[in-house]
Amino acid sequence: MNAPRSIVITGASSGIGAAIALHYAAPGVTLGLTGRNTERLEAVAASARAKGAMIETAGIDVRNAESIVAFLTPFDASHPIELMIANAGVLEGRSADGTIEDGATARRVIEINLLGALNALHATLPAMRARNRGQIVLVSSLAAFSPLTDAPAYSASKAGLLSYGLALRAALADTGVKISVVCPGYVASAMTDSHIGEQPMKISAEEAARLIARGIARQQAVIGFPKALYLGSLMSAIIPEPLRLLFTKSMRFHVEPRR
Ligand SMILES: NC(=O)c1ccc[n+]([C@@H]2O[C@H](COP(=O)([O-])OP(=O)(O)OC[C@H]3O[C@@H](n4cnc5c(N)ncnc54)[C@H](OP(=O)(O)O)[C@@H]3O)[C@@H](O)[C@H]2O)c1
Repeated sequence: MNAPRSIVITGASSGIGAAIALHYAAPGVTLGLTGRNTERLEAVAASARAKGAMIETAGIDVRNAESIVAFLTPFDASHPIELMIANAGVLEGRSADGTIEDGATARRVIEINLLGALNALHATLPAMRARNRGQIVLVSSLAAFSPLTDAPAYSASKAGLLSYGLALRAALADTGVKISVVCPGYVASAMTDSHIGEQPMKISAEEAARLIARGIARQQAVIGFPKALYLGSLMSAIIPEPLRLLFTKSMRFHVEPRR
C-alpha cells in the first residue's frame, strides 16, 4: 500500500497517538488530530508541523459522535481520509486501597474506549466505502486476549474492539476498505505511568508507533506486540482459567488517579 497522505488520529494529544502523529508527519501529509486537552494537542501539532505536515486539530471528546462528524465531514471533503486511527482511550481499575471500579466508571471506560472508537470509525466508513478505498485501525490491547483482574471494564472494552474490528474486516473483505486491530503490550505513556505494577517488555511510544505503522502498511488483521507477550496472550485464551490466573498473578496492579 502507498504511504497514506490524509490521516486522522484520535487521542493524538499524548502517548501512542502523539507518537503515531509524529511518525507519519512529513511534507505532503495532512493530519487531523483530536483529543480533549487542546494545549497538549497543539504542542503535538506544532511538532508535526515542524516536520512539514499540514495539521488540523479539534478538541473533541470521542463520546460526542456529532462533534466527530462535524470535524471529519469538511476534513474529508478537502483531504479524503485514507487512514483513520481510533486510538483514544482511558485506563481505570482497582485503586491503591483495593477498591474495585464502580458501575459509573465501568460505563465511562466502555463509552470512551469502545463506543468512542466506533464513533470515529462510523464517521469515516461511509466516505471510504463510497471511494472503495481506505484503512481504519482500532487501538485495542493484549488485554483483549487475557482480561486484567484489576481492570474489568478496560479489558471488556478492548475485547469488544478486537471482536468488532475483526468481524467488520471480514464483512468488508471484498471491498477496498481494510480494518486492522492494534494490540499493544506495555508502552511508555501517561497511561502506563498511572498503572502501578509490573510492566514486562515495555517499549517506547516511538517504537510502538513504528510497529503500528509497519502493521498498517502490511494491512495486518491484528498488529500485536511485543511478539513474546502477544504469543503468551494468545496462549492464555486457550489454557484452563486457573492456570491463566496463576501465570498472570505477578501482573496484578492498581491505577493511580491522573494528574
Ligand atoms: N500504553 C500502553 O501500555 C497501552 C497498551 C495497550 C493499549 N493501549 C491503548 O493505546 C491507546 C493510547 O494510550 P496511551 O498509552 O497513549 O495513553 P495516553 O498517553 O493516556 O493517551 C490517551 C489519549 O486518549 C485521549 N483520550 C482519552 N479519553 C478521551 C476522550 N474521552 N475523548 C477524546 N480523547 C480521549 C487522550 O487525550 P485527552 O486527554 O487530551 O483527551 C490521549 O490523547 C489507548 O486506547 C490505550 O488503551 C495502551
